[in-house]
Amino acid sequence: MNCDIMKEADNTTNQRSMDCIDVGSENCPCYLALTGDCLICSRLQGKDYCGCNWAGVCVYNEFIQGNKKVNNPRKDFEAKIVRRKIYNENLIVYVLDVGKGFAMKVERPGSYLLARAKGAESFYDIPLSIMKTDVEQGHIYLAIKVISSKTKTLIGENDTLLIRGPYRSGIHGISAIVGNKAKDQKVLIIGKGIGIAPGALISQSIGTRASIDMVIDTEKICKEFIKDFIYPAQGTERVHNEDTEIQYMSLNNKETNNKLETLMQNKNYDSVILLVSDYYIGNLGSLVKMVLPKANLAVSNNFRICCGEGLCGSCSVDTGSGSIKMCKCRLKGEELLNSQ
Ligand SMILES: Cc1cc2nc3c(=O)[nH]c(=O)nc-3n(C[C@H](O)[C@H](O)[C@H](O)COP(=O)(O)OP(=O)(O)OC[C@H]3O[C@@H](n4cnc5c(N)ncnc54)[C@H](O)[C@@H]3O)c2cc1C
Ligand code: FES
Repeated sequence: MNCDIMKEADNTTNQRSMDCIDVGSENCPCYLALTGDCLICSRLQGKDYCGCNWAGVCVYNEFIQGNKKVNNPRKDFEAKIVRRKIYNENLIVYVLDVGKGFAMKVERPGSYLLARAKGAESFYDIPLSIMKTDVEQGHIYLAIKVISSKTKTLIGENDTLLIRGPYRSGIHGISAIVGNKAKDQKVLIIGKGIGIAPGALISQSIGTRASIDMVIDTEKICKEFIKDFIYPAQGTERVHNEDTEIQYMSLNNKETNNKLETLMQNKNYDSVILLVSDYYIGNLGSLVKMVLPKANLAVSNNFRICCGEGLCGSCSVDTGSGSIKMCKCRLKGEELLNSQ
């Protein structure tokens, strides 16, 4: 993916000042503090002055007070498989027992975890979005599209999965609708294939505080899955508010952009969330910015994520003035649109 994300470096001080998805969380300070690579804190970047824009708890102070250790490092743990359902189109949904505490931590839209089969080496880890949480029961729901080695290994499991998390950067630009910020907004979610799974969590999180419309391209997923988890009939596993209007469209169809343009003009959405591949992020993102220039744009994080900790470099993007790790930084949706 090409990104237009070059303006974050402060040229006067040559200081990196990228917004961090984990700052101020229970996982801050993180491994990057140990090596002088904290995205936020100038002192932890080796400077002798404080020059950050972060208004929350001082990261440097937390690091020193915590004996210069990583706070609450994420660890693998075994989650019991409560049930699983296999759909056509190589799609499987797992319900995992993760305990109330963890289920609560991953309620934030855009949350994901890293998962692998119990006996598998850590390089089988894959990022999977949280589709739904049931905090009362301590359960989470994951939907997995089986493609190749890693996902095939994962779906062989019936008893437990090894998981690690929470990770928070699954959707760039989502902050604009988290918590009370969503109140009274008109939100449009456009999802293609398994990309729609994190859309269910957004819908669950917003509840009735905002109105949500969805446009879904069901390619490579099946309608039964949509019925069970995205647009369920009364009495089944309902995850969204009653007023959600769902339209099915093939994003491949030439007419679709015209239909979406009309929809956006008519509804004048405050936020548009694109849970699609990079190609459609570029294509639809430009359309959103043209029709609704003031709308918040959020997009799925489609970078290759392996460690999720800002360490392995698999998600790195070269900005021209340095490299940034897309699993750690928090960007606006429009910063991820193709710059060409
Ligand atoms: C934040 C995030 C959330 C995701 N949530 C889900 C989800 O809820 N359900 C789901 O089915 N899939 C999800 N994915 C994609 C999933 O991780 C990949 O489909 C999986 O890793 C494929 O592995 P494989 O060995 O089966 O296939 P491979 O042949 O290895 O990969 C198939 C395709 O999957 C993508 N992919 C592979 N490895 C990674 C990786 N480490 N990070 C990102 N993309 C990769 C690439 O586009 C690749 O071409 C998510 C990815 C990200 C980054
Ligand atoms: S996934 Fe390892 S640095 Fe981002």
